[in-house]
Amino acid sequence: MPVNVRPTHALDFHIALTGFMGAGKTTLGSDLALALGRSFIDVDAEIEREAGTPISEIFSARGESEFRWLEGKRIRDLLETREPAVIALGGGALGAEETRKALRERAFTILVEVDLGKAWHRVSGSGKRPLARDEESFRKLHAERLPVYYDCADAVSSDLESAILAAGGVEVSAGALARLGELAPGEGNISLVTDENVENLYGAAAKKALGERLATTHVLPPGEEAKTFAGFQRLLEELPLERGDLLVALGGGCVTDVGGFAAATYMRGITWLSAPSTLVGQVDAGIGGKTAINIEKGKNLVGAFHWPARTVIDPDLLATLPAKERREGMAELVKTGLLAGKKLWELPDAEMVRGSACHKLEICLRDPREQGIRATLNLGHTFAHALETAGAFGSPTHGEAVALGLVAALRISIERGLDPVWLEEVEQVLAPKPVPVDREAAWTALFRDKKVAGGKPKFVLLEAPGKPVWGVELSEDEARRALNALIADS
Ligand SMILES: NC(=O)c1ccc[n+]([C@@H]2O[C@H](COP(=O)([O-])OP(=O)(O)OC[C@H]3O[C@@H](n4cnc5c(N)ncnc54)[C@H](O)[C@@H]3O)[C@@H](O)[C@H]2O)c1
Repeated sequence: MPVNVRPTHALDFHIALTGFMGAGKTTLGSDLALALGRSFIDVDAEIEREAGTPISEIFSARGESEFRWLEGKRIRDLLETREPAVIALGGGALGAEETRKALRERAFTILVEVDLGKAWHRVSGSGKRPLARDEESFRKLHAERLPVYYDCADAVSSDLESAILAAGGVEVSAGALARLGELAPGEGNISLVTDENVENLYGAAAKKALGERLATTHVLPPGEEAKTFAGFQRLLEELPLERGDLLVALGGGCVTDVGGFAAATYMRGITWLSAPSTLVGQVDAGIGGKTAINIEKGKNLVGAFHWPARTVIDPDLLATLPAKERREGMAELVKTGLLAGKKLWELPDAEMVRGSACHKLEICLRDPREQGIRATLNLGHTFAHALETAGAFGSPTHGEAVALGLVAALRISIERGLDPVWLEEVEQVLAPKPVPVDREAAWTALFRDKKVAGGKPKFVLLEAPGKPVWGVELSEDEARRALNALIADS
């Protein structure tokens, strides 16, 4: 990446936390590292460990300039390491141009914001901070450093959730559609990809927000029709973009899937922005970089991992979503809530979407190419796919099938010790009803699921809310009983 183009997310970058002393960088940093499965390095602690003496001692014995030299060198060495980590920087570290340059090249930098009174309360009297002797000079130093903090920041956060969202390049806020232009990275041309319904509802607002950079708009048919090979090819033929330009996919999961896949493949990959407009899209499909189209052999069989440079989620768009589409999304949301161990479904829309997006992102940032923990996002889905296949993808819908799949996964989990209260919650929120599909067809499909390894399906179960286990093999009897209970006699 050219040095002057800043990263929009931290997928392949170190995360550097900057900000004033007392901002809470160490606490936030270790929580963020734990959430993202990265190692955490506190630069001040490293320097103290290596020197075998506290920073205040280094300051008084060797002076600030010697400390700054040690600090700059340590930061540059850390940024050279390959494995992306979370690195908390001391409050004065950005004073050195060499450090700022290294951060621009190798890190996604998050400024940790704090109320100054709170920061003073935290650091005053600790005796450990050589530059926090009195409140007046503390405030003066803060005012001096603030412009540099902002200048170096790729994002600003104050808590774990906002730091995870920033690390994934995700913006969740009511009214975000109007800021699409401001949030669109780069300076090149933009092609907007959407579907007929979304174009009618939000096309004008999106075009206004994208302004003069908007070169073309591509309106796809709604639903799975958008994901056909022929439709995908047509879109590629129409795109006028060059490398360095941007594709914006505004719509439900079908639009973000095909738009993202077009971006992944056009000219061997161009940058894209995902702007999901359905509940399925905002809590699931629009996040995490999985893109796909359908071929006759199966749904989503051709695709790629291609992380969106930015994901813009405007929960206000859900206001126009038909109830049937909302129900589809609720099944995925309840799944995410179970995995996160939070009753997300009890929250107002904006918080529900934010919490769900945050959990999905946490998992995808840890495992962007689904080689481990990302498999947990398939909770309930192995049973769901079997029911959908047996119903020839007409009835049940994906959401109805996921709701039933969750019931099966929870029933088996309860036999292994999960508190039954969680199944009651799921039944209350999703009201799943057994479906009249062919039992043998569903049973055969269960063994044909994409996640089958070595001929046996693997399942995700819950030990407890927030504690999924994956790769679980069930006995034939257990799997058959669970599947049968989801099927009504026709
Ligand atoms: N890539 C992934 O990680 C992932 C995850 C889950 C699902 N998916 C895919 O997502 C697709 C399903 O997505 P979906 O459920 O969003 O379906 P969809 O894209 O077909 O949208 C559903 C309907 O809602 C309309 N719509 C969209 N936004 C609207 C709004 N704000 N107001 C009113 N109507 C609106 C659409 O025009 C469409 O008719 C499937 O193809 C599935 O395979 C992908």
